[in-house]
Amino acid sequence: MLKNVPRIQDLFTTDGLEEGHNELEIGTGLSRTFVVSLYPRDIYIGWLDDIFRLGDIDLSIQINPVPDRQVILALTKQLASVQAQWIQDKKSGYILNLPGLVETANNLESLRTTVQTNRDKVFFGEIFITVHATNNEELQNKCNVLLDILARSATRVNSCMFRQLDGFKSVLPVANLKIQDFWRNLNCGNVAACMPINSPELSHSSGELFGFNYYTGSPIFFNQFLGPPEMPNPHILVIGEAGSGKSTGIKVISLRNSILGVKHVFIDVENEYEKVTNNMGGVNINIKGGEPTGINPLDIEVEENKDGSKRVPITDKVMEIRQLLSVMKGGLSGEKLTNRELALIEESTMEEYRERGITSKPESLYETSRTVDGVLKLGKVKKEMPTLSSLIERLAEKPGGEELAQTFKPFLHGGSLGLFDCQSSVNISDTPAVCFNIQEIKDEFSRVYAMFVIMGWVWQKFAQKNRHIKKQITVDEFWRLMKFKDGALFAEEIGRRGRKHNAGLVIGTHSLVEFSGDEGQAVLNSCFTKVIMRQNEAQVSNIVERFSLSDGCKEFIQQARPGECLLKIGSKTTAMQIIPAPFEFELIDTRPAEEREVAM
Ligand SMILES: Nc1ncnc2c1ncn2[C@@H]1O[C@H](COP(=O)(O)OP(=O)(O)OP(=O)(O)O)[C@@H](O)[C@H]1O
Ligand SMILES: [Mg+2]
Repeated sequence: MLKNVPRIQDLFTTDGLEEGHNELEIGTGLSRTFVVSLYPRDIYIGWLDDIFRLGDIDLSIQINPVPDRQVILALTKQLASVQAQWIQDKKSGYILNLPGLVETANNLESLRTTVQTNRDKVFFGEIFITVHATNNEELQNKCNVLLDILARSATRVNSCMFRQLDGFKSVLPVANLKIQDFWRNLNCGNVAACMPINSPELSHSSGELFGFNYYTGSPIFFNQFLGPPEMPNPHILVIGEAGSGKSTGIKVISLRNSILGVKHVFIDVENEYEKVTNNMGGVNINIKGGEPTGINPLDIEVEENKDGSKRVPITDKVMEIRQLLSVMKGGLSGEKLTNRELALIEESTMEEYRERGITSKPESLYETSRTVDGVLKLGKVKKEMPTLSSLIERLAEKPGGEELAQTFKPFLHGGSLGLFDCQSSVNISDTPAVCFNIQEIKDEFSRVYAMFVIMGWVWQKFAQKNRHIKKQITVDEFWRLMKFKDGALFAEEIGRRGRKHNAGLVIGTHSLVEFSGDEGQAVLNSCFTKVIMRQNEAQVSNIVERFSLSDGCKEFIQQARPGECLLKIGSKTTAMQIIPAPFEFELIDTRPAEEREVAM
């Protein structure tokens, strides 16, 4: 009985196979296999990606590690022979080849040293490429294009003439190499660069056009809100030196995803998101030093849980206020809050809410009537919230709290930093985009303070609401916040909670120096997507180490032009070019007109 059942091979094998002198006829198709015989002098990341443009091809990369002692022995022998040749040539007055021999000897010696010191390894590599086509003409055309593509990167391939069947078997993923005469030496960097980075999965099946694959030109679609497993969180880190195109990249993705319904909040340090916000139909809020802003850090809102239940996150708020006051004290005096002071702040904050009858129950936030600005409001009216003044006043009344309360005086109404000591009066609930422009705050610490408060406030009023709406909070020049440990902790907290509320954090920074330490690492880890733009010499090694990038990637980001970047989603990386459309550039480029003309 079992004899008459189809075998698994019957389900996919072709009718037959015929080996020609330089091609293989498989079923109704043709194929030709090549083996790489000459590698480029410098193998860069993605050097093989272009060949995928040919469509139906198979690429097989065989890598075998070589024991170090064998490598060192072979290199020493080769080095001795090159040096002997140099001596002989010099003695006989044949000087033409001397510089080349010196260079070869240096290369051999440096490779030997890196292997000896365990900084590199040598591998044997063999690469096969099979081109498939439906007829002879198509095969010929495809093979010509393949040779052209490879010639551009100084790579030579040999066709497996008279051994096409062996070549085909070598390409199959069964590690059965029938052709073994094209092994070449590769080091770790070369091997890493052989891995195809044109990972098709990197382009999502939904979302907006983010950029184009740098090597193949294929479009890369990106959906930060795709959710697990592809996108465990929607947060994006954009890093690059000044002028590398960070803000441009952020604006491009924001403009494009806003069309798909993503709501935006920008915290704008350089007054460059105004046009983009206007284009989205949003509002711009200018924050100026010394003027009340209508933003109250002690304002608290109902948070919606995944199961639809609601609560007032009092404990999270208390934690946030502790961090805020830590930043305030640290910024003014450079000192940290002591444990006793932290306890006093916590106690006072709790009391502030308790006194107003605010508990974790949502209805506790409202009362049935209240007079607001001389007008009696009836119905479900939000209670008056504690403010920095009321909190600090309470703190001053506590035994041992008086001195601490004095420290916070500049942050109260009328003080030089009193811009957030007020009731909330700004309404951002019904607008598709809001830009908080803090450029006019000149003093560095006040800026950080403003960033911190606005982020917390935006969290309450925007991020944790309407779970079903996709939201993006963009903070360019994020490194400022990272200078304070509590700023980092807060950012990490927002990142962690944002995921659950469909709120993505997009952070732009020119440096990672401020991201050292556990808190900094936690913020980096919380961004599943990283866009890495051009890096200068001083930064590049740090970036390569922190993001585990290969040598090829390192070279790429050292030479990248504005808009060229590495897109790293989880562990997958691709080289990408962000190309704004002309009408987008109009909104994005905020340079003065004269400056633009000079650049053109
Ligand atoms: N994708 C791109 N295509 C073409 N030009 C670009 C691109 N991105 C940036 N540029 C050019 O580079 C300039 C600097 O870009 P951008 O302001 O985005 O850099 P940045 O990294 O945010 O700089 P900074 O650190 O100073 O804020 C822009 O004015 C623009 O002319
Ligand atoms: Mg910028």
